[in-house]
Order: sequence, then C-alpha cells, then structure tokens
Amino acid sequence: MKYRTMGKLGIEASAFGLGCMRFNGAASGDSTIDEQKAISLIRRAIDGGVTYIDTAYVYLGKTSETVLGKALRDGYRDKVTIATKMPSSAVHDRASMEALLAEELGKLQTDQIDFYLMHGINREKWEYFKSIGAPEFFDEMKKAGKIRYKCFSFHGPYEDFEYILQDSDWDMVQIQYNFMDVDHQAGTKGLELAGRLGIPVVIMEGLLGGRLSKAPDNVQALYDAFPVKRSPVEWAFRWLCNHPEVSVVLSGCNEAEQIDENLRIFDTVGAGIMPEEELKLMDDVRAAYLSRTKIGCTGCKYCMPCPNGVNIPGIFTAWNNVSLYNTDPAQDFGLRQIKEKGMGADKCIQCGACEAACPQHLPIIESLQQAWTELNG
Ligand SMILES: NC(=O)c1ccc[n+]([C@@H]2O[C@H](COP(=O)([O-])OP(=O)(O)OC[C@H]3O[C@@H](n4cnc5c(N)ncnc54)[C@H](OP(=O)(O)O)[C@@H]3O)[C@@H](O)[C@H]2O)c1
Repeated sequence: MKYRTMGKLGIEASAFGLGCMRFNGAASGDSTIDEQKAISLIRRAIDGGVTYIDTAYVYLGKTSETVLGKALRDGYRDKVTIATKMPSSAVHDRASMEALLAEELGKLQTDQIDFYLMHGINREKWEYFKSIGAPEFFDEMKKAGKIRYKCFSFHGPYEDFEYILQDSDWDMVQIQYNFMDVDHQAGTKGLELAGRLGIPVVIMEGLLGGRLSKAPDNVQALYDAFPVKRSPVEWAFRWLCNHPEVSVVLSGCNEAEQIDENLRIFDTVGAGIMPEEELKLMDDVRAAYLSRTKIGCTGCKYCMPCPNGVNIPGIFTAWNNVSLYNTDPAQDFGLRQIKEKGMGADKCIQCGACEAACPQHLPIIESLQQAWTELNG
C-alpha cells in the first residue's frame, strides 16, 4: 500500500480508502446489508494496509455507520481514520446537529470522528448549512475534540465548488473525479484549485460507481493494443493517483477479490509516474468512450422547465450514460427517478418550446422519442 500526505494537514493516509456505501452491491438507501460479510471486508482492507474509511449517516438505510462501528472493535479503530457525514436533510438547528453527531458517534462506537463532512453539497446546500450555523458548529466540535477536521463532499457545477472552497477554512474536500469527469462537477480545475490552496482531496466515484471497470469493446481494444497489460480498474486508479493533488481514492468493494485486487493496485501507484504514452492512452480511451455519445446535450437546462413536465436533460444524460458505459437502463439511477416522478418522454406533446430554447439547436422532439424507445427496450 502506498501512503500519501494529506495536503496542509501533513498526516499520512493510505492511497486506497474504503467506501462503505455499496456492500453487497446495494445502492445507497438499500438496507440489505450482509453484516458479517461487510465486517470481514472492512477488516480485510485494514489488515491489507487501508487506513482511511468513508461512510455516511444515510448509507445502506442508515446501517453503514453501525456496521463500521462493529468492524472497528477489537483494536481496529486505532488503525484507521473515519470519515462520515452530516446530511442537510437531517438537521435544521443547533440542537438537531448536536443530536445527529451524538447518534453518529454512538453508532461508530468512538469518541471522535476524524473527518466530518457536510454531505454532497452544492451552493444551495452550503447556503442552507450556513443559515443554520453549521460551520460554527463544526468549529466548536473541533475544539471540543468530537471531530478532528471540518470537511465537505461536493456534487455540483465547478462555479459552486470554487465559491464553497474559498468561503470557509476547510480541512479536506471530497469530490467525484475519474478520467471521464475531467470537465464535470469540480473537474480537473477544481482538483488543481484545492491543490493550490493546500486542501487535501479525497476522490469518490473513481470508477464511476463501477461503470469504468467493464470497458465496452472499442475501449477494450485500446487497452489490449497497449504494450503494458492492465485491467480497466488498474488504469483508472493509476490515472487518478498520477495527480499529486489526490490524497485518497475511495472505492466501495463488494467482494474479497475486489479488496485484494485494489490492495495490489494501490501498491503500484504514484504521483507523476505515468509516462507520456500512458497519458495518451487514457486520452484515447476517454475519446473512445465519448464517441459512443448519443446526443450533444450539455445539460444547460435552457429547455427547462418543460411545460408538460418532461425531464429533457435527465433523459438525455441517461441515454448517453447507458450508451457510453454499455450498462443496463433498468439499473440507471437517474432514469429510475425520472420514471418514478412521471417525468418521462411519454409526457411529450411535441409543442416545440424546448427546441426554440435550445442553444445547441438539438432536434429534441425526435431525439426524446428515440431515447425513450431505446431506454425502454
Ligand atoms: N459524499 C458523497 O456524496 C458520495 C457519493 C458517492 C460515493 N461516496 C463515497 O465514495 C465511495 C466510493 O465511491 P464508489 O463506491 O462509487 O466507488 P467506485 O470505485 O467508483 O465504485 C465502486 C464499484 O466499483 C466496482 N469495483 C471496485 N473495485 C473493483 C475491482 N477491483 N474490480 C472490479 N470492480 C471493482 C464495484 O462494482 P460492482 O458493484 O459492479 O462489483 C464497486 O461497487 C463510496 O463507497 C462512498 O463511501 C460518497
């Protein structure tokens, strides 16, 4: 296992951090966790050298912290730092923040949380956290020794990231990043900004939730043609760790084999070690994925709101993702939500308001019908 210094904090962490969101392949919110198996996976990772573990209040139907607490008995707690999170939905004032933190400490069976994060924030959620005094609460809890570091995890546009990062004295930030997300969310610009400020960066979705672990044919052909043979997972992690700003790469593992494989991979990574040919390979791989794009929707939302409630950018995102990563539409989280909320293309009455507003001049009406047909088999 390679260990890396966490920016201005100056402490060391394992390059591979274990994410506790996906045990048994369950999506966040699903409570079908196999406790004994999860505990043995967590301990296997720690025995292999992992020192950074990430969980959250809401993961696995709120059971993830409890299982992690049990896994960290018998001396394991002293071997790791724990990151967990405060969701905006669970707090509305000082008393509710105090109660939530007390509950999380209890579930984790510890006196102190190392990295405490405001969970999945964008500008709007950050303003909410400020309005209820969360930044001050985190500072006080640091002084009281109940948490060590004040942090946030981020999902939103780069502009929000740039603002939030410089609007408080953060100890660490967690972002979604991988070789496909260089211009998405915080992106490379955000990673580099955090690096310049000395704020350590922890990566989530390094494999895009597993989507980058199974390369479609045109991508696999590029990997196969390269003289050095590595799995898609190894290429993805190697590329991430090549960035000096990255401290820890989280990965949620469901099987002992995945833990073992990741322990092996994170023994070989390093900042700035990829030669030019390897970086070129990853650029080609990205281009090969992008060549599978169905429609050039940028998600600007100028077409929204649709008068009939169709989630146009959401449908196009799902259409592109299913094609790019060769995945099953039934497993697409965004698409499932669109259907649950009744915002599908079957609601389109072809009024054309969207096409008049689209700055890309996309043939939205026709494409929506095609997307909906393909996504529904
Ligand atoms: N704060 C937030 O808003 C937020 C959001 C997302 C995630 N997170 C955190 O970040 C962690 C990491 O994100 P993630 O779970 O999405 O990570 P990820 O590494 O992008 O995806 C994990 C998935 O990758 C596959 N995988 C991992 N290692 C593999 C290997 N060696 N070979 C083949 N497949 C492998 C598994 O997929 P299969 O299931 O297909 O086997 C696994 O479920 C989460 O666990 C969570 O703790 C936080």
